[in-house]
Amino acid sequence: MSYKIATIPGDGIGPEVVDETLPLLHEVASRHGVDMEFTEYDWGTERYLETGEMMPDDALDQIVDADSILLGAVGHPDVRDHITLHGLLLPIRKGFNQQVCKRPSILFDGVESPLRGYESGDIDFVVFRENTEGEYSDAGGRIHEGFEHEVAVQSAVHTREGTETIVRAAFEAATERDGHLTSITKSNAQAFSMTFWDDVVGEIAPEYPDVEVESLLVDAASMDLVRRPDQFDVLVASNLFGDILTDIGAIVSGSMGLAPSGNINVDDEYPSMFEPVHGSAPDIVGQGVANPMATVLSAAMMFENLGEDAVSDALWSAVRAVLADDDAPVTPDLGGSASTGEVVDAIEERL
Ligand code: NAD
Ligand code: IPM
Ligand code: MN
Repeated sequence: MSYKIATIPGDGIGPEVVDETLPLLHEVASRHGVDMEFTEYDWGTERYLETGEMMPDDALDQIVDADSILLGAVGHPDVRDHITLHGLLLPIRKGFNQQVCKRPSILFDGVESPLRGYESGDIDFVVFRENTEGEYSDAGGRIHEGFEHEVAVQSAVHTREGTETIVRAAFEAATERDGHLTSITKSNAQAFSMTFWDDVVGEIAPEYPDVEVESLLVDAASMDLVRRPDQFDVLVASNLFGDILTDIGAIVSGSMGLAPSGNINVDDEYPSMFEPVHGSAPDIVGQGVANPMATVLSAAMMFENLGEDAVSDALWSAVRAVLADDDAPVTPDLGGSASTGEVVDAIEERL
Protein backbone atom coordinates (compact mmCIF):
# COMPACT_ATOMS: atom_id res chain seq x y z
CA MET A 1 0.00 0.00 0.00
CA SER A 2 1.00 3.57 -0.49
CA TYR A 3 -0.28 6.68 1.27
CA LYS A 4 -0.08 10.38 0.62
CA ILE A 5 0.25 12.31 3.88
CA ALA A 6 0.07 16.08 4.15
CA THR A 7 2.35 17.31 6.92
CA ILE A 8 1.88 20.67 8.58
CA PRO A 9 4.74 21.12 11.06
CA GLY A 10 3.43 24.55 12.09
CA ASP A 11 4.98 26.61 14.88
CA GLY A 12 7.33 26.33 17.83
CA ILE A 13 8.24 22.75 18.66
CA GLY A 14 5.84 21.54 15.94
CA PRO A 15 8.57 21.44 13.25
CA GLU A 16 11.04 19.95 15.76
CA VAL A 17 8.87 16.95 16.57
CA VAL A 18 7.47 16.44 13.07
CA ASP A 19 10.81 16.73 11.22
CA GLU A 20 12.50 14.27 13.56
CA THR A 21 9.60 11.82 13.35
CA LEU A 22 9.13 11.54 9.56
CA PRO A 23 12.23 9.39 8.84
CA LEU A 24 11.07 6.99 11.57
CA LEU A 25 7.66 6.75 9.94
CA HIS A 26 9.24 6.04 6.53
CA GLU A 27 11.33 3.33 8.14
CA VAL A 28 8.59 1.56 10.09
CA ALA A 29 6.20 1.71 7.15
CA SER A 30 8.70 0.33 4.63
CA ARG A 31 9.49 -2.57 6.96
CA HIS A 32 5.82 -3.52 6.60
CA GLY A 33 5.73 -2.98 2.85
CA VAL A 34 3.93 0.34 3.18
CA ASP A 35 5.05 3.28 1.11
CA MET A 36 4.68 6.77 2.55
CA GLU A 37 4.70 9.96 0.54
CA PHE A 38 4.88 13.02 2.78
CA THR A 39 4.19 16.46 1.38
CA GLU A 40 5.06 19.32 3.68
CA TYR A 41 3.00 22.52 3.85
CA ASP A 42 4.82 25.49 5.38
CA TRP A 43 1.67 26.96 6.88
CA GLY A 44 1.94 28.71 10.20
CA THR A 45 2.78 31.91 11.97
CA GLU A 46 6.08 32.61 10.15
CA ARG A 47 4.02 32.59 6.95
CA TYR A 48 1.44 34.84 8.61
CA LEU A 49 4.10 37.35 9.62
CA GLU A 50 5.29 37.50 6.00
CA THR A 51 2.01 37.34 4.09
CA GLY A 52 -0.79 38.09 6.55
CA GLU A 53 -2.23 34.58 6.13
CA MET A 54 -1.60 31.43 8.14
CA MET A 55 -2.40 29.33 5.08
CA PRO A 56 -3.48 30.09 1.51
CA ASP A 57 -7.14 30.59 0.57
CA ASP A 58 -7.26 27.26 -1.23
CA ALA A 59 -5.43 25.41 1.55
CA LEU A 60 -8.12 22.82 2.16
CA ASP A 61 -8.36 22.10 -1.58
CA GLN A 62 -4.60 21.53 -1.65
CA ILE A 63 -4.76 18.77 0.95
CA VAL A 64 -8.25 17.33 0.49
CA ASP A 65 -6.91 14.40 -1.55
CA ALA A 66 -4.35 13.41 1.08
CA ASP A 67 -5.00 10.10 2.82
CA SER A 68 -4.30 11.79 6.12
CA ILE A 69 -2.81 14.88 7.72
CA LEU A 70 -0.07 15.00 10.34
CA LEU A 71 0.19 18.30 12.21
CA GLY A 72 2.77 19.54 14.72
CA ALA A 73 1.44 22.55 16.60
CA VAL A 74 0.19 26.06 16.02
CA GLY A 75 0.73 29.15 18.17
CA HIS A 76 3.36 31.86 18.39
CA PRO A 77 4.17 34.34 21.16
CA ASP A 78 4.19 37.28 18.71
CA VAL A 79 0.64 36.81 17.42
CA ARG A 80 -2.55 36.48 19.42
CA ASP A 81 -3.73 32.90 19.56
CA HIS A 82 -7.23 33.43 18.17
CA ILE A 83 -5.67 34.68 14.93
CA THR A 84 -3.29 31.78 14.48
CA LEU A 85 -5.64 29.03 15.59
CA HIS A 86 -8.62 30.35 13.64
CA GLY A 87 -6.26 30.82 10.70
CA LEU A 88 -5.01 27.25 10.58
CA LEU A 89 -5.88 24.47 12.99
CA LEU A 90 -9.57 25.04 13.66
CA PRO A 91 -10.60 25.60 9.99
CA ILE A 92 -9.10 22.21 9.10
CA ARG A 93 -10.92 20.39 11.90
CA LYS A 94 -14.18 22.10 10.94
CA GLY A 95 -13.74 22.19 7.16
CA PHE A 96 -12.92 18.49 6.98
CA ASN A 97 -15.71 17.68 9.41
CA GLN A 98 -13.38 15.96 11.86
CA GLN A 99 -16.14 15.57 14.39
CA VAL A 100 -14.56 12.93 16.57
CA CYS A 101 -11.46 13.76 18.54
CA LYS A 102 -9.96 10.72 20.19
CA ARG A 103 -7.39 11.24 22.94
CA PRO A 104 -6.00 8.30 24.91
CA SER A 105 -4.28 8.75 28.30
CA ILE A 106 -2.09 5.84 29.33
CA LEU A 107 0.37 5.57 32.18
CA PHE A 108 3.15 3.60 30.48
CA ASP A 109 5.57 1.25 32.15
CA GLY A 110 8.62 3.29 33.22
CA VAL A 111 6.74 6.58 33.45
CA GLU A 112 5.99 8.24 36.75
CA SER A 113 2.64 9.89 37.33
CA PRO A 114 2.75 13.06 39.45
CA LEU A 115 -0.04 11.37 41.42
CA ARG A 116 1.01 9.06 44.21
CA GLY A 117 0.43 5.33 44.08
CA TYR A 118 -0.24 4.66 40.43
CA GLU A 119 1.73 2.14 38.47
CA SER A 120 2.01 1.31 34.84
CA GLY A 121 -1.32 0.37 33.34
CA ASP A 122 -3.34 1.76 36.26
CA ILE A 123 -4.32 4.77 34.19
CA ASP A 124 -5.72 3.89 30.79
CA PHE A 125 -8.66 5.86 29.49
CA VAL A 126 -9.67 7.59 26.31
CA VAL A 127 -11.53 10.85 25.90
CA PHE A 128 -13.91 11.29 22.98
CA ARG A 129 -14.11 15.01 22.45
CA GLU A 130 -16.67 16.65 20.17
CA ASN A 131 -14.42 18.49 17.77
CA THR A 132 -16.18 20.87 15.38
CA GLU A 133 -18.92 22.72 17.26
CA GLY A 134 -20.04 23.25 20.86
CA GLU A 135 -18.22 26.06 22.61
CA TYR A 136 -15.89 26.40 19.58
CA SER A 137 -18.68 27.42 17.23
CA ASP A 138 -18.21 30.59 15.24
CA ALA A 139 -21.46 32.07 16.53
CA GLY A 140 -20.86 35.22 18.48
CA GLY A 141 -19.40 38.66 18.28
CA ARG A 142 -18.08 41.72 20.01
CA ILE A 143 -19.87 45.03 19.87
CA HIS A 144 -18.92 48.48 21.15
CA GLU A 145 -15.30 47.39 21.42
CA GLY A 146 -13.39 49.36 23.99
CA PHE A 147 -16.43 51.16 25.40
CA GLU A 148 -17.85 50.69 28.86
CA HIS A 149 -20.98 49.16 27.40
CA GLU A 150 -18.99 46.63 25.37
CA VAL A 151 -20.59 43.20 24.96
CA ALA A 152 -18.90 39.95 23.94
CA VAL A 153 -21.02 36.94 23.03
CA GLN A 154 -19.59 33.48 22.43
CA SER A 155 -22.39 31.06 21.73
CA ALA A 156 -22.11 27.33 22.05
CA VAL A 157 -23.85 25.40 19.28
CA HIS A 158 -24.73 21.75 19.77
CA THR A 159 -26.40 20.02 16.84
CA ARG A 160 -28.23 16.74 17.19
CA GLU A 161 -26.13 15.26 14.38
CA GLY A 162 -22.83 16.35 15.93
CA THR A 163 -23.78 15.27 19.41
CA GLU A 164 -25.11 11.89 18.30
CA THR A 165 -21.92 11.31 16.29
CA ILE A 166 -19.56 11.86 19.21
CA VAL A 167 -21.76 10.01 21.71
CA ARG A 168 -22.12 7.02 19.39
CA ALA A 169 -18.36 6.92 18.73
CA ALA A 170 -17.78 6.85 22.49
CA PHE A 171 -20.31 4.07 23.07
CA GLU A 172 -18.69 2.03 20.28
CA ALA A 173 -15.29 2.48 21.92
CA ALA A 174 -16.70 1.49 25.31
CA THR A 175 -18.10 -1.76 23.91
CA GLU A 176 -14.64 -2.59 22.58
CA ARG A 177 -12.92 -1.60 25.82
CA ASP A 178 -14.15 -2.18 29.39
CA GLY A 179 -17.79 -1.25 28.84
CA HIS A 180 -17.74 1.89 30.97
CA LEU A 181 -18.67 5.32 29.66
CA THR A 182 -18.51 8.60 31.54
CA SER A 183 -20.49 11.43 30.02
CA ILE A 184 -19.26 14.88 31.02
CA THR A 185 -21.72 17.73 31.28
CA LYS A 186 -22.54 20.87 33.18
CA SER A 187 -26.29 20.41 33.11
CA ASN A 188 -26.74 22.09 36.45
CA ALA A 189 -25.71 25.45 34.99
CA GLN A 190 -26.04 25.05 31.22
CA ALA A 191 -29.69 24.16 31.16
CA PHE A 192 -30.08 24.12 27.36
CA SER A 193 -26.95 22.63 25.85
CA MET A 194 -26.05 20.12 28.48
CA THR A 195 -29.53 18.85 29.22
CA PHE A 196 -29.74 18.26 25.46
CA TRP A 197 -26.44 16.36 25.71
CA ASP A 198 -27.78 14.28 28.61
CA ASP A 199 -30.92 13.51 26.59
CA VAL A 200 -28.88 12.32 23.59
CA VAL A 201 -26.81 10.06 25.82
CA GLY A 202 -30.01 8.71 27.36
CA GLU A 203 -31.53 8.05 23.92
CA ILE A 204 -28.49 6.20 22.58
CA ALA A 205 -27.70 4.23 25.75
CA PRO A 206 -30.37 1.50 25.18
CA GLU A 207 -28.60 0.59 21.92
CA TYR A 208 -25.58 -0.40 24.03
CA PRO A 209 -27.04 -2.40 26.91
CA ASP A 210 -23.61 -3.75 27.88
CA VAL A 211 -22.17 -0.31 28.49
CA GLU A 212 -22.51 1.12 31.98
CA VAL A 213 -23.08 4.88 31.78
CA GLU A 214 -21.95 7.32 34.42
CA SER A 215 -22.66 11.03 34.23
CA LEU A 216 -20.33 13.56 35.82
CA LEU A 217 -20.36 17.32 35.99
CA VAL A 218 -17.18 18.70 34.47
CA ASP A 219 -15.95 20.28 37.70
CA ALA A 220 -16.32 17.03 39.59
CA ALA A 221 -14.81 15.12 36.67
CA SER A 222 -11.73 17.36 36.80
CA MET A 223 -11.34 16.43 40.44
CA ASP A 224 -11.95 12.74 39.82
CA LEU A 225 -9.38 12.58 37.02
CA VAL A 226 -6.87 13.53 39.71
CA ARG A 227 -8.47 11.59 42.58
CA ARG A 228 -9.32 8.31 40.82
CA PRO A 229 -7.91 8.30 37.26
CA ASP A 230 -7.68 4.50 37.37
CA GLN A 231 -11.48 4.18 37.37
CA PHE A 232 -12.11 5.75 33.95
CA ASP A 233 -12.47 3.85 30.71
CA VAL A 234 -14.10 6.02 28.03
CA LEU A 235 -15.14 9.64 28.57
CA VAL A 236 -17.25 11.69 26.20
CA ALA A 237 -17.29 15.46 26.37
CA SER A 238 -18.06 18.63 24.48
CA ASN A 239 -15.33 20.48 22.63
CA LEU A 240 -14.15 22.78 25.43
CA PHE A 241 -14.62 20.33 28.27
CA GLY A 242 -12.78 17.68 26.27
CA ASP A 243 -9.95 20.10 25.61
CA ILE A 244 -9.49 20.84 29.29
CA LEU A 245 -9.89 17.26 30.50
CA THR A 246 -7.31 15.95 28.03
CA ASP A 247 -4.59 18.23 29.39
CA ILE A 248 -5.39 16.76 32.82
CA GLY A 249 -5.30 13.30 31.26
CA ALA A 250 -1.91 14.04 29.70
CA ILE A 251 -0.27 15.17 32.90
CA VAL A 252 -1.70 12.53 35.24
CA SER A 253 -0.24 9.96 32.87
CA GLY A 254 3.19 11.54 32.94
CA SER A 255 3.64 14.34 30.43
CA MET A 256 2.13 16.52 27.74
CA GLY A 257 4.92 15.11 25.62
CA LEU A 258 3.30 11.67 25.60
CA ALA A 259 -0.30 12.50 24.69
CA PRO A 260 -1.47 11.70 21.14
CA SER A 261 -4.64 12.75 19.40
CA GLY A 262 -6.70 12.00 16.33
CA ASN A 263 -9.24 14.29 14.67
CA ILE A 264 -11.38 11.87 12.76
CA ASN A 265 -13.70 12.37 9.82
CA VAL A 266 -16.06 9.50 10.49
CA ASP A 267 -17.56 9.09 7.01
CA ASP A 268 -14.18 9.13 5.20
CA GLU A 269 -15.33 11.96 2.99
CA TYR A 270 -12.35 14.07 3.99
CA PRO A 271 -8.94 13.30 5.43
CA SER A 272 -8.55 12.87 9.18
CA MET A 273 -5.78 14.72 11.01
CA PHE A 274 -3.42 13.48 13.69
CA GLU A 275 -1.50 15.72 16.06
CA PRO A 276 -0.10 15.71 19.56
CA VAL A 277 -2.38 17.13 22.27
CA HIS A 278 0.31 19.63 23.21
CA GLY A 279 0.93 23.03 21.67
CA SER A 280 3.96 24.86 20.32
CA ALA A 281 5.63 25.01 23.77
CA PRO A 282 7.36 28.39 23.41
CA ASP A 283 9.12 27.82 26.74
CA ILE A 284 11.30 25.04 25.29
CA VAL A 285 11.39 25.88 21.59
CA GLY A 286 14.79 25.81 19.92
CA GLN A 287 16.40 23.70 22.63
CA GLY A 288 15.94 20.41 20.79
CA VAL A 289 14.43 18.78 23.86
CA ALA A 290 10.75 18.45 22.92
CA ASN A 291 9.45 14.96 23.52
CA PRO A 292 8.60 13.48 20.10
CA MET A 293 6.59 10.58 21.56
CA ALA A 294 3.21 12.35 21.41
CA THR A 295 3.80 12.90 17.70
CA VAL A 296 5.01 9.34 17.14
CA LEU A 297 1.94 7.96 18.90
CA SER A 298 -0.31 10.33 16.95
CA ALA A 299 1.22 8.84 13.80
CA ALA A 300 0.52 5.38 15.25
CA MET A 301 -3.12 6.42 15.57
CA MET A 302 -2.96 7.60 11.96
CA PHE A 303 -1.70 4.22 10.75
CA GLU A 304 -4.45 2.46 12.68
CA ASN A 305 -7.00 4.77 11.08
CA LEU A 306 -5.55 3.95 7.65
CA GLY A 307 -5.99 0.26 8.42
CA GLU A 308 -2.25 -0.37 8.82
CA ASP A 309 -2.51 -2.02 12.22
CA ALA A 310 0.88 -3.73 12.06
CA VAL A 311 2.67 -0.42 11.51
CA SER A 312 0.63 1.18 14.26
CA ASP A 313 1.39 -1.65 16.71
CA ALA A 314 5.09 -1.48 15.89
CA LEU A 315 5.20 2.21 16.83
CA TRP A 316 3.23 1.75 20.06
CA SER A 317 5.46 -1.16 21.08
CA ALA A 318 8.68 0.67 20.28
CA VAL A 319 7.63 3.73 22.31
CA ARG A 320 6.60 1.47 25.20
CA ALA A 321 9.95 -0.33 24.99
CA VAL A 322 11.92 2.91 25.22
CA LEU A 323 9.90 4.09 28.20
CA ALA A 324 10.21 0.75 29.99
CA ASP A 325 13.99 0.67 29.56
CA ASP A 326 15.75 2.54 32.39
CA ASP A 327 18.83 2.94 30.21
CA ALA A 328 17.02 4.37 27.21
CA PRO A 329 17.13 8.11 26.55
CA VAL A 330 14.15 10.27 27.45
CA THR A 331 13.59 14.01 27.24
CA PRO A 332 13.60 16.37 30.25
CA ASP A 333 9.79 16.31 30.66
CA LEU A 334 10.26 12.66 31.69
CA GLY A 335 13.26 13.38 33.88
CA GLY A 336 15.93 12.63 31.28
CA SER A 337 18.37 14.78 29.38
CA ALA A 338 18.06 13.40 25.86
CA SER A 339 17.31 15.37 22.74
CA THR A 340 14.30 14.92 20.48
CA GLY A 341 16.49 13.16 17.90
CA GLU A 342 18.06 10.79 20.42
CA VAL A 343 14.62 9.64 21.53
CA VAL A 344 13.51 9.07 17.93
CA ASP A 345 16.69 7.02 17.35
CA ALA A 346 15.95 4.96 20.45
CA ILE A 347 12.44 4.27 19.18
CA GLU A 348 13.81 3.26 15.78
CA GLU A 349 16.28 0.85 17.42
CA ARG A 350 13.36 -0.92 19.08
CA LEU A 351 11.09 -1.26 16.06
P1 NAD B 1 1.76 23.71 25.41
O1 NAD B 1 1.16 22.37 25.26
O2 NAD B 1 2.46 24.23 24.22
O3 NAD B 1 2.79 23.69 26.62
C1 NAD B 1 2.40 23.41 27.95
C2 NAD B 1 3.59 22.86 28.75
O4 NAD B 1 3.88 21.53 28.30
C3 NAD B 1 4.86 23.66 28.54
O5 NAD B 1 5.58 23.70 29.75
C4 NAD B 1 5.63 22.87 27.51
O6 NAD B 1 7.02 23.02 27.56
C5 NAD B 1 5.22 21.45 27.84
N1 NAD B 1 5.24 20.60 26.65
C6 NAD B 1 4.34 20.62 25.64
N2 NAD B 1 4.69 19.74 24.69
C7 NAD B 1 5.83 19.17 25.09
C8 NAD B 1 6.68 18.19 24.52
N3 NAD B 1 6.43 17.61 23.34
N4 NAD B 1 7.78 17.83 25.20
C9 NAD B 1 8.06 18.38 26.39
N5 NAD B 1 7.29 19.31 27.00
C10 NAD B 1 6.19 19.70 26.33
O7 NAD B 1 0.61 24.70 25.88
P2 NAD B 1 0.58 26.30 26.02
O8 NAD B 1 1.88 26.77 26.57
O9 NAD B 1 -0.66 26.62 26.71
O10 NAD B 1 0.43 26.83 24.55
C11 NAD B 1 1.51 27.30 23.75
C12 NAD B 1 0.96 27.69 22.38
O11 NAD B 1 0.49 26.51 21.69
C13 NAD B 1 -0.23 28.63 22.43
O12 NAD B 1 -0.08 29.49 21.32
C14 NAD B 1 -1.43 27.73 22.25
O13 NAD B 1 -2.52 28.39 21.69
C15 NAD B 1 -0.87 26.70 21.31
N6 NAD B 1 -1.51 25.39 21.36
C16 NAD B 1 -1.63 24.75 20.17
C17 NAD B 1 -2.11 23.47 20.13
C18 NAD B 1 -2.19 22.78 18.82
O14 NAD B 1 -1.61 23.23 17.84
N7 NAD B 1 -2.87 21.66 18.71
C19 NAD B 1 -2.44 22.81 21.31
C20 NAD B 1 -2.30 23.48 22.53
C21 NAD B 1 -1.82 24.78 22.54
C1 IPM C 1 -5.86 21.35 21.51
C2 IPM C 1 -5.60 22.83 21.57
C3 IPM C 1 -6.56 23.58 20.67
C4 IPM C 1 -7.98 23.26 21.09
C5 IPM C 1 -6.35 25.10 20.64
C6 IPM C 1 -4.94 25.44 20.32
C7 IPM C 1 -7.31 25.80 19.76
O1 IPM C 1 -5.68 23.28 22.88
O2 IPM C 1 -5.79 20.77 20.41
O3 IPM C 1 -6.05 20.74 22.56
O4 IPM C 1 -8.50 23.87 22.03
O5 IPM C 1 -8.58 22.39 20.47
MN1 MN D 1 -5.80 21.69 24.32
